[in-house]
Amino acid sequence: MFFRAFHGQSSFQKITYRRSSLLLSTLGKAFSAQALGLALALGLSWLLPALLHGATRLLLLQGAAAAICSVVLRQRYWWLVIHLLFLPSAIALLTVQLPSWLYLMLVLLLALVFWGTIKGDVPLFLSSNAVADALANMVDSEQAKTFADLGAGLGSVAVPLARQRDISVDAIEHAPLPWLITAWRCRKLPHTTVKRSSLWQRDLARYDLLFAFLSPAVMVELGEKVRREMRPGSLFVSSSFAIPDWQPEAVLQLEDRRRTKLFCYRVTSH
Ligand SMILES: C[S@@+](CC[C@H](N)C(=O)[O-])C[C@H]1O[C@@H](n2cnc3c(N)ncnc32)[C@H](O)[C@@H]1O
Repeated sequence: MFFRAFHGQSSFQKITYRRSSLLLSTLGKAFSAQALGLALALGLSWLLPALLHGATRLLLLQGAAAAICSVVLRQRYWWLVIHLLFLPSAIALLTVQLPSWLYLMLVLLLALVFWGTIKGDVPLFLSSNAVADALANMVDSEQAKTFADLGAGLGSVAVPLARQRDISVDAIEHAPLPWLITAWRCRKLPHTTVKRSSLWQRDLARYDLLFAFLSPAVMVELGEKVRREMRPGSLFVSSSFAIPDWQPEAVLQLEDRRRTKLFCYRVTSH
């Protein structure tokens, strides 16, 4: 048995709590880090006026302090760069006085790329060809007939797999722009469906082989969903992120640039 059972509180209660707290934890931590960074920078410049006078130093200090706060608040590492650059770039952009429609376009673009994904702290990263090849081999060894990529991004996995193997492929993507790009790439591929939906809304029971490359923030909850919904004997493969406390059947280390690890979990009877 590869799965740890929950004790006490029901898994439904835990999951509802976790889902609602994810948004708070992601955005709440981001705002807190910025605010704390500003407070620290103002406080230090008040204490050490000779050392930290001037707007540029204050901005740099705020960026650094916000980045440190984000580390303390245990945000993912990419937030560090965002915090470092956020206030300095916001002020720099204000001073060059770009036309307002440019900001609107930028916000629109960000919304199209990240809509519905910030909650789980899942950014858009693309899997390498090596990942798609490894999954194609697994399709063969598992004799899988049905495959899904949860959070399909630009189709880096779903498209080559649908091209190389005669199986049913579901690419599930919530963010509008990546979904549109994957749908376009898959438009002529047979047995391939690109669904614009949250992965949390999908039923996983029909898949022989399921793939996800998401984020550590969602792995506990995703593990519970896999355990509840996937059929015994089916295989769940998570790229880069393990499910805490679960014992994988195998861990494949690929020779790609990221040296991706694929954590393979066999679903056993519930
Ligand atoms: C790290 S990327 C992986 C992309 C692709 N699977 C690959 O391996 O190249 C994660 C993707 O999951 C999507 N995503 C995040 N949260 C999602 C959700 N709740 N439902 C569906 N897709 C989601 C993001 O928009 C992003 O495209």
